Amino acid sequence: MTTIRVAGPPPYDVVIDAGALGSLPRLLGPARVAVVVADARLADRAEQVRRLLPDVDVTVELVPSGEQSKTVGELDRLWHAFATAGLSRSDAVVSFGGGATTDLAGFAAATWMRGVRVVHVPTTLLAMVDAAVGGKTGINTDAGKNLVGAFHPPAAVVVDLDLLSTLPAAEWTNGMAEVVKAGFVADAGILDLVRDDPHLHARELVERSIAMKATVVSEDLTEAGRREILNYGHTLGHAIERREEYRMPHGHAVSIGMVYAAEVAELSGTARIGFAAEHREILSGVGLPTSYDADAFDDLYDAMRLDKKARAGRLRFVLLSDVGKPVGLDDPDRELLAAAYERLVAS
Ligand SMILES: NC(=O)c1ccc[n+]([C@@H]2O[C@H](COP(=O)([O-])OP(=O)(O)OC[C@H]3O[C@@H](n4cnc5c(N)ncnc54)[C@H](O)[C@@H]3O)[C@@H](O)[C@H]2O)c1
Ligand SMILES: [Zn+2]
Repeated sequence: MTTIRVAGPPPYDVVIDAGALGSLPRLLGPARVAVVVADARLADRAEQVRRLLPDVDVTVELVPSGEQSKTVGELDRLWHAFATAGLSRSDAVVSFGGGATTDLAGFAAATWMRGVRVVHVPTTLLAMVDAAVGGKTGINTDAGKNLVGAFHPPAAVVVDLDLLSTLPAAEWTNGMAEVVKAGFVADAGILDLVRDDPHLHARELVERSIAMKATVVSEDLTEAGRREILNYGHTLGHAIERREEYRMPHGHAVSIGMVYAAEVAELSGTARIGFAAEHREILSGVGLPTSYDADAFDDLYDAMRLDKKARAGRLRFVLLSDVGKPVGLDDPDRELLAAAYERLVAS
């Protein structure tokens, strides 16, 4: 079992192992009541949680599979379920699902009685390496994705690698984009393992990716400074997702966005020639896309300037001068961005 400690406040542990779910009783703390908020697709396995906690009054609350659950309607339903279960300040919520479920359950826990403990049990690669660690929770509204939410660090995160056995291949690929991102922004060793065989090295990839995110969020809970490197590839990625009306998987959009950031870095003289080609090779090697529509630049440029992270219309990119060496780029010329886009679509 590997344990990675994330600095608080308050600090919490991420435990990683095949069969790590067995640690849930220890990590749940003194709760007498627990509400397990589970993705409906995982109903059978969520029931097993009940058996693990014979001394706790467990309610399993199923939510719609995936993104459809991140609504104010589901949040309201969970608040009712918490009331019915008698969930008090000393009790706990357990999330059991992908990032959509951990985001929703985390936000429900953040808001119930101004905050009760939540233990995340992520079941997708993406949720293990990204969504469950760091304390961001939230839902979608008409105003946009993830605009309503709270920072609410979990009491613990249980990463049971056995849960990945049923994950569809497409969801694995989606999560690999964030794994490769972790490699580029902070850990060249991840890139070597991905080049070799990601399935063979699943455990080490999960551990190293979580270690990267844990280090970053430990230094910076609320994304003022270093946390920005987690946004690598996401500036163009978010713009593509919006243009696709969120029908393109997040990992695909981020993959294209990372190649683009590497092209911008090369063109601006920030990174060596060949850096973008290295991105393409690794990302396409795991089945991720590395190019996009030739005529989309104008749309994407406008969308990037409207992004919630582009403060007051000022565009800011996270670039890398090399693997593990982030540099910010403020207000780049439109010409530079257009030229980098040409190279993205030509590849
Ligand atoms: N809070 C954060 O810091 C953060 C970071 C990244 C992403 N997110 C959020 O995470 C969400 C995406 O997460 P995701 O990619 O895990 O998607 P998801 O939760 O929508 O799950 C993807 C699909 O996989 C299924 N699934 C989950 N686990 C499974 C398993 N073990 N076996 C078989 N099927 C399984 C789900 O039913 C769903 O259909 C988005 O809502 C995003 O906003 C949050
Ligand atoms: Zn992402």
